[in-house]
Order: sequence, then C-alpha cells, then structure tokens
Amino acid sequence: MTETAITRRRIVLDCDTGLDDTLTLIFLSGRPDVELVAVGTVHGNVSAVQGALNSAAVLKTLGRTDVPVTVGARHPLAQPVQYSAKVHGSDGLGEIPIDREVRVRTDISAAEQLVRLARQHPGELEIIATGPLTNIALALMIEPELPNLIAGIAVMGGAVTVPGNNTPWAESNIKHDPEAASLVFSAGWRRCVLAGLDVTLTTWLRSADLAAIDALTTPAGRLAQQIIGKFSAYFSVTYGRQSCPIHDPTAAILLLHPEYGEYGRWSVQVELAPGLTRGATLADRRPFVANKPAPPHPPIEVATRLDLDRLLECFVAGIRAAGTAPAQQGQQGQQGQQMEKEVSGD
Ligand code: BDR
Ligand code: CA
Repeated sequence: MTETAITRRRIVLDCDTGLDDTLTLIFLSGRPDVELVAVGTVHGNVSAVQGALNSAAVLKTLGRTDVPVTVGARHPLAQPVQYSAKVHGSDGLGEIPIDREVRVRTDISAAEQLVRLARQHPGELEIIATGPLTNIALALMIEPELPNLIAGIAVMGGAVTVPGNNTPWAESNIKHDPEAASLVFSAGWRRCVLAGLDVTLTTWLRSADLAAIDALTTPAGRLAQQIIGKFSAYFSVTYGRQSCPIHDPTAAILLLHPEYGEYGRWSVQVELAPGLTRGATLADRRPFVANKPAPPHPPIEVATRLDLDRLLECFVAGIRAAGTAPAQQGQQGQQGQQMEKEVSGD
C-alpha cells in the first residue's frame, strides 16, 4: 500500500558488470523511488555475456529476478574488444562465490530493448550507463529520435579535467569504444550528465562508510562487502589506499540527485585518431566572455565537484536498504527467456 505513494523513476541500467557496476545494481535495488525496468550489458570489464550472467546473478542475490537482463554489444564499433580482468577479476566479480543458476535474454539485443522501452514510455525513461557506450550508440542508430524519447541519461565515463586511468589520457569506458562515446555525447539529449574521473576519483569510501557497510547482515550487504573488498584490493595496490572509489554508483546518484554535484556545461568531443590520446574526452573550457567559437554540438553537464558527504551517505543508505524492496509488478520477468550458457561470449 505504501508503494503507491511513491512516484518511481523508470530506469534502464546499461553496464559491463564489473565490481562497481555490481555496487550500482545493489544501490539501485535499495531505492524505493526507482523502477529498474531492465538491464542491458555491453563488452567492457568482461564480455557482454559474462556481464549479463553477472548482472543476473547479482539480481538473484538481491531477490530481483523480475528484472530482465539482456545481452548487448559484444564488440566496440570500430576497434578490437578488450577486457579489464586485472581490475575486476577473470569473471568480473573478483571470483567471489555466487549463485550462477540464472537466465538472461538473447532474443533481442540490449540496444533493441532500450529502443522498445523508450517508445513504450516516451519522455519517461532514464538511462544510467556504466560501461562503454556501444549499446546506446546502436540504439541511436536504430532510433534517431531517442534523445527526445529519453528523459535523461547519466554516464560514468571520461576524464575531462584530470588524467585518464586506462591510459594517461583516456578513461576506460570511453577508451573501450571512443566512436560510440562520440556519437552519444553529440546526440543532443534533453539531459546528459557525465560523471567522469573528474569526480568519481574523489568518491573513496571513508572508514565510517566501510564500517556501516561491514555491519550489514543482509544478502545485499554481504555481497557489497565482498565486492568492496575485491575492489579495494585492486586500489590498494594501484593507488596505495585501503578503500575504493565508487565510480559507477556516482553516475546513478547524480541522475537521482543532481544537487549533489557542480557542473560545467561543455560540449565534449572524443579523440578518435589512433595514437597516444585516442579516447581522451576534450572540452573547450577557455573562460572567454566573447569570441568563443560555437560548440560543435549541444553541451552536456560535466560533473566537476561533488557534495561528498551527501553522496556517500546516499550510497550507504541505498546499500543498507538493498534487497528489501518488493519485486516490481507488471515487468517482463525472466521466465521463458532464452538461457545463455556460454561464458566467453566473444
Ligand atoms: C570505469 O571503468 C570500469 O572498469 C568501471 O566499471 C567503471 O565503469 C571506471 O573507469
Ligand atoms: Ca562499469
């Protein structure tokens, strides 16, 4: 009964699950104001098939087998596929034990699923993209009106004012498919928020956040503890800190709470030329008051600063509440969907 009082935002998560993508799934499942309509997966941290199986396994742990998970693009638009096993482990979930008796959709692609849902809910659907942007680019090719059908999109990707992580100049999600990112950033969305390394590398979980999550005894809490442990192991070696930033959840939180961020309204271009800087995200940030050339395409909202206290509190609250929301009514469940058994998916 209480559920009817809440207006839920219809959200599709497009991801490459992935340790921090998993944290995003856990976080979203703890939000009573979110209807997670579907998950689509893309090559990136792991293969699109592995990412889908991971997403479905995570959702099963959260008691959310009602959310359809669809396999998306297995390759970037214009370069060979590349995975990130050294960050996320060979299976994308740091090889933690998890129930993998799951079903995922392969009867339509993630891009087709996105277009279908956008047409079903014109002006309502929102997208959180936490992997390479191949599926979103393909959806734009299927339906050029997509930017008008979608209420808003939040992307984890890019490094506009700071160094990259995949290379010194490029962030991983963009480096994994620069052509797709270029199409998405220039599409002219009603609202497009970019949560890049500019802000996500400030979102290190503090000891109080880690302690609050460590105290949880729910299946979602235990899963979050394991995932954060694996992510922190990577960051302790690479960055010398015993914690981890929450890259992907930051995009989700800024979609839901734009007031937790400050933004530059910049037209973002992606370096497509082969060479050292391929995949770099570039914006004309010159503070001219006159004579500044017109931007090449409409600006997007590039997050430049966060209210970290509120953002991290919001994250911990979502993890605490995860797995407690009732399953959604009226969604297409996974019954009868095609079982995908392969795990490499290449
Ligand atoms: C992004 O790359 C992936 O490894 C993470 O899941 C995140 O989406 C951070 O650069
Ligand atoms: Ca990701």
